Amino acid sequence: MTDPRIGIIHERMKEITKIIAVSSGKGGVGKSMVASTLALILARKGCKVGLFDLDFTSPSTHVVLGVGGIRPKEEKGIVPPEVLGLKYMSITYYSGDLAAPLRGTDVSNALIELLSITIWGKLDYLILDMPPGIGDVTLDLIRLLPNTRFLIVTTSSQLAFETVKKFVGLLEEMKMPVIGVVENMKMNNSDDIHLQADKLGLKFLAVIPYDAEVESAIGDAEKLLGTALANGVKKIALEIMVRN
Ligand SMILES: Nc1ncnc2c1ncn2[C@@H]1O[C@H](COP(=O)(O)OP(=O)(O)OP(=O)(O)O)[C@@H](O)[C@H]1O
Ligand SMILES: [Mg+2]
Repeated sequence: MTDPRIGIIHERMKEITKIIAVSSGKGGVGKSMVASTLALILARKGCKVGLFDLDFTSPSTHVVLGVGGIRPKEEKGIVPPEVLGLKYMSITYYSGDLAAPLRGTDVSNALIELLSITIWGKLDYLILDMPPGIGDVTLDLIRLLPNTRFLIVTTSSQLAFETVKKFVGLLEEMKMPVIGVVENMKMNNSDDIHLQADKLGLKFLAVIPYDAEVESAIGDAEKLLGTALANGVKKIALEIMVRN
């Protein structure tokens, strides 16, 4: 028997124009920073934006944005609180500061549950902060929300880009659209990642330099928007608004 919640998900998400998953084959490359900053920038440009932290085991966008202590309202579902001009949803509303150690089927269950209870309403963009790699959440997301577009984050390291190649290969096989790739925390002058992205037919969206100011901007949205990281993300936001 199919899970009855899956039918509800479509109904819940029907007023969302574009769903963008900020992903990578690798951990620690800056997905959460890029996802949070992208959501903030799109909201400042006047778009209706939602941000959904789908990294259930290590949620971090609430820390990036500095929005602890908020709770959603219950209203025949869950209404995500509006913070910093965007609608924000995270498993931390339920897990608090405790870890949420979820196994495979529990991850699917949490994802299906949150997708089926959250009332997003009308959104131009729903930004998803994804856990690293091709795991349960990514595979379930592709199954449950097949209209998701992927924004891929890599660093300048070949170790990161190799995992990106695999990730993008899988997305292509599954006919999932890829918006493009962003090279984050860049500290060299090489255009190697750009060239490799071109070779794969991936749009190279932006370079984000390693920016020592980022650390002190965590938890302070205004400061975050003034960093070199935000400058790079602005380019991505423009590309998304024009083409995606
Ligand atoms: N451009 C940058 N300059 C300096 N530091 C950065 C930059 N981008 C990200 N960071 C830092 O790198 C670390 C990893 O970033 P982040 O948590 O966003 O990565 P992630 O890909 O979401 O990690 P995970 O896979 O664990 O979810 C953080 O400490 C973050 O502040
Ligand atoms: Mg993260």
